[in-house]
Amino acid sequence: MNHQKKDAPMIEIRTLKTLKRFRRSASHLPGVTGLVILGSIFVFFTSCMAAPKSDHMKKRSGEILIVYSGNTLGELKPCGCAREEDQGGFEKRMSYLKKVRAGSENILLLDTGDSFKEPTRQGKVKAKYLLKAMVKMKYDAVMPGDHDFVYGNSFLKEQKGIPWILSNIEMEPLAGVRVKSFGEGLKAAIIAVADPDLLYGSRHSGDKIIPVREAVRSQLRQLDGESPDLVVLLTHMEREKALAFLDVEGVDVIVNGHMEKDTDPIDMEPVLKNGRIFVQPGPRGQKMGELTVMIGPEGKKSFEQKMVPLGSKIALDPEMVQLYEEYNKEVEDLFFASLSERKGKKLTVFATDKVCKTCHPKIHTTWEQSRHGHAYNTLRKINKAFDPECLICHVVGWNEPGGFVSEIDTPDLRNVQCEVCHGPALEHASAPAPGFGQDAKQACKKCHVKNHSPRFNFNKYWDTIKH
Ligand code: HEC
Ligand code: HEC
Ligand code: HEC
Ligand code: HEC
Repeated sequence: MNHQKKDAPMIEIRTLKTLKRFRRSASHLPGVTGLVILGSIFVFFTSCMAAPKSDHMKKRSGEILIVYSGNTLGELKPCGCAREEDQGGFEKRMSYLKKVRAGSENILLLDTGDSFKEPTRQGKVKAKYLLKAMVKMKYDAVMPGDHDFVYGNSFLKEQKGIPWILSNIEMEPLAGVRVKSFGEGLKAAIIAVADPDLLYGSRHSGDKIIPVREAVRSQLRQLDGESPDLVVLLTHMEREKALAFLDVEGVDVIVNGHMEKDTDPIDMEPVLKNGRIFVQPGPRGQKMGELTVMIGPEGKKSFEQKMVPLGSKIALDPEMVQLYEEYNKEVEDLFFASLSERKGKKLTVFATDKVCKTCHPKIHTTWEQSRHGHAYNTLRKINKAFDPECLICHVVGWNEPGGFVSEIDTPDLRNVQCEVCHGPALEHASAPAPGFGQDAKQACKKCHVKNHSPRFNFNKYWDTIKH
């Protein structure tokens, strides 16, 4: 987190009026009477749901399906390195949403933020496409998470058509509350609060940002006239902090997002308390959350929740495939635009596998037949051989002095070669000696990381490539 920097956005202080009484009285706290778990579907019943005060008496009943995402962390499309991790991506998300929309009418599509990841030029290009995709998906509310400020808030403003929401910071283009009305007169309100410590660091907290609880109360108060049938609170903070909002009168559903690292585990099981429900979206857009809220007469609510994996069986939406192609084209343009700069750093550091072959021919044959010997072609086949986010593990020395520049400039540095594991060997190749490159075992973990090689186990893997 680097929001303490001097280019951190200025935040206006919102004047808070004296708080009125809560919308619902505490004496109407509902109790939990049952929880049934059907496979991965959670069904919750609540009894004596807060009976609204007479002036807010509701006679509407019906069902609202909340579809929630978050923690996408730049995962426009999964890399495809490992089958288990080949889930999610916007091409599948769109197909999924079209199907859901065909099946139900009252849908509330929400995102809890942390859509972006790398503060790099490519990361920014990706962020632009992520938002383009989200506009096409017609989200109802999208809250920015701490990761989403990496390109500044002007970037958020430039991307038109996103229904941004954040209630505890008053800042363009963020709305404080959003209300959606459905066919049968049902109405849902959405409020969103982010932990200021995550957004700006403690240095900026305090007077510049409204304390989260106060922001929630003030928004609820402003909703009084609307009398929504469902109030959803989006939070962006650590789980423990967000769980505390289960005590807030007037809120029905809490959806909490936030991810520090893209390998952090996330508890996706719902928590029920006081007739309210708390859920979290999974990591990297691999699964979509579905929370059905059944609203009975006089506001009585029950919930059904499940996570839907966007696995390989879900078709790719053609419009999103095209959008991804556009992104890919921009990445390719960036690759060529940076070519001369990268060429300038040309140095000779690596001997290349061809040279090793002259003295270690048997080992070379073993290597050539392994998947390391074809790692570049793997990218080429899927039109990804110019994407730095892929090259880094599929060639020799990407981003290192003397490393891979391009297929044309450095054809001999394609693939996961000997020197990726044994280290640069120019010297060894001209004056060979035993004892060289023995730390090779340590190299695996640079690339065989959880998200790209979840089954990695040194002994098993080494066994298939040993030489
Ligand atoms: C000119 C011949 C030659 C070239 C070229 C060469 N090596 Fe060697 N390499 C040797 C010799 C000789 C040894 C010592 C073998 C021995 O005595 O066990 C050795 C040893 C090694 C060892 C250590 C083995 C051990 O247990 O001590 C590694 C690792 C190694 N080479 C990797 C490479 C790599 C990688 C390349 C290409 C970048 C390469 N070599 C190029 C001749 C060469
Ligand atoms: C520079 C990154 C990198 C390093 C370092 C690396 N690998 Fe790999 N490895 C890859 C890539 C990329 C692939 C997939 C290549 C392909 O199929 O295109 C792969 C594939 C493999 C496979 C084939 C897996 C399968 O399912 O068939 C094995 C086995 C393997 N690596 C073992 C190792 C071991 C053991 C080490 C350490 C001694 C190691 N790798 C170090 C990048 C790396
Ligand atoms: C952190 C390193 C890393 C990065 C970054 C990376 N890969 Fe990989 N890739 C691997 C490893 C390791 C494997 C082998 C995984 C295994 O079998 O355990 C692999 C395997 C693959 C495979 C082979 C899958 C198969 O079963 O045939 C494809 C395709 C692939 N990667 C594409 C990509 C693309 C596209 C990108 C960029 C979006 C990318 N990789 C980025 C490390 C990486
Ligand atoms: C994926 C990583 C990786 C790649 C790629 C790789 N090696 Fe190795 N290599 C190892 C590991 C690990 C060992 C075992 C080291 C040990 O036992 O400490 C090893 C051992 C060796 C040895 C010593 C063998 C012995 O008999 O002691 C030589 C020589 C060697 N490699 C040469 C090469 C050459 C040449 C290439 C390319 C053609 C290559 N290696 C590619 C990881 C790799």
